[in-house]
Order: sequence, then C-alpha cells, then structure tokens
Amino acid sequence: MKNIVVGVSGGIACYKAVEIVNQLKKDGYNVNVIMTKSAQEFVKPLTFQVMSGNLVVTDMYDPVDHWDTTHIDLGKNADVFVIVPATANIIGKIASGIADDMLSTTVMVATCPKVIAPAMNTAMYENPFVQANLKKLEENGYHVLETKEGLLACGDEGKGKLLPWEVITQYIKDIVDKDEKYLNI
Ligand SMILES: Cc1cc2nc3c(=O)[nH]c(=O)nc-3n(C[C@H](O)[C@H](O)[C@H](O)COP(=O)(O)O)c2cc1C
Repeated sequence: MKNIVVGVSGGIACYKAVEIVNQLKKDGYNVNVIMTKSAQEFVKPLTFQVMSGNLVVTDMYDPVDHWDTTHIDLGKNADVFVIVPATANIIGKIASGIADDMLSTTVMVATCPKVIAPAMNTAMYENPFVQANLKKLEENGYHVLETKEGLLACGDEGKGKLLPWEVITQYIKDIVDKDEKYLNI
C-alpha cells in the first residue's frame, strides 16, 4: 500500500483537505495527516483521524506509541508528501530551511516527491517574497501547484484560491501511481 502524507497548514481552505484525505483513503492509500497548530483552529484533528483511519500528528513532542509517527519515519516512508492548503508561512519556512514544528520538520526529512498546494489572499500570494519562495521550492524539485482565480473567502477577487480538491487529489494519485522517485532537499 502506498503511503501518502498530507500536511495541513492554517488557512481557511483546510476543510477542503478533508475531502482530499477522504478520497485518497477510499481509493486505497494509507494516509497520515500532520496538522500545524494554526490548522487546528480551522478543523479538528478528529475529522482527519476519522477520514484517514490513522492518528493525526499535531505535536512533535507528543509521546510516540507507534514507530511510524515520528517525524523521521513519516518523512522517510512517504511515497508522496503533499501540503494542502499551504500557507505563506509554511512555504516561507520550507524555502528557508526552517524546521520548528512537526510539519516543517517532517517535510525536511522526506526525499519523495513533494506537492505544495498554496491557498491565500491575493495580495499575500502576489507578495514578492512569497513568489520568490515558491520559485525556490520549484527549483528544488517541489511540485508547486497553481492557484485558481476567483472570489476569495475574505471577499477579495483574484489569484490565491486553492485548486478544486478533485484536481489536487488526481494530481497526487498521478504522481504516486507513476512511482516517481527522485531526490530533492
Ligand atoms: C481567518 C483566517 C484565515 C486565514 N487564511 C489563511 C490562508 O488562506 N492562507 C495563509 O497563508 N494564511 C492564512 N491565515 C494566516 C495563517 O493562519 C497564519 O499565517 C499562521 O501563522 C499560519 O501558520 P502555519 O503555516 O503554521 O499553519 C489565516 C488566518 C486567519 C485568522
């Protein structure tokens, strides 16, 4: 069974990641979810726990009951690692080599294909630092997905909306089923 790690960071689009996890699980993948502290303000870990059938990893310093919930093992055993939604913050942290929570630490360990699905306010998305960070990730082998244009939750209109969850799910499956193997940071 292929292992998919889904990292969820703290944006309003967190609820859409629930559908992705649900679909991947139904399609026969083993899905482990890691949530940032901010993500837990939007959706409860319990929702992802039920949808994935696995315990959700939320804290790096929780006592470890299972060999496969440490940041090293989750990262090492992943066949694909997707961050959805990816906040400006997590994008900046990864691009800068910062590992100060479970998600940023685990993604640093992973050598499998990594997918970043950004979602944020248009001005944040167009911010030159955010764009430079996305470019840096792409140059280092990350799959950086586009965003959709439209009406955002904050009322602004423009780029920054998360791609439809079905599109992201298919993208992940295409990568993992192709058994793409290459090393990046
Ligand atoms: C209501 C609300 C919605 C937010 N939506 C987003 C978002 O869509 N994208 C984003 O990058 N940040 C968003 N933020 C800000 C992040 O939650 C904040 O930058 C946080 O530090 C991200 O932490 P994390 O990357 O560790 O999850 C939002 C904040 C609030 C209060």
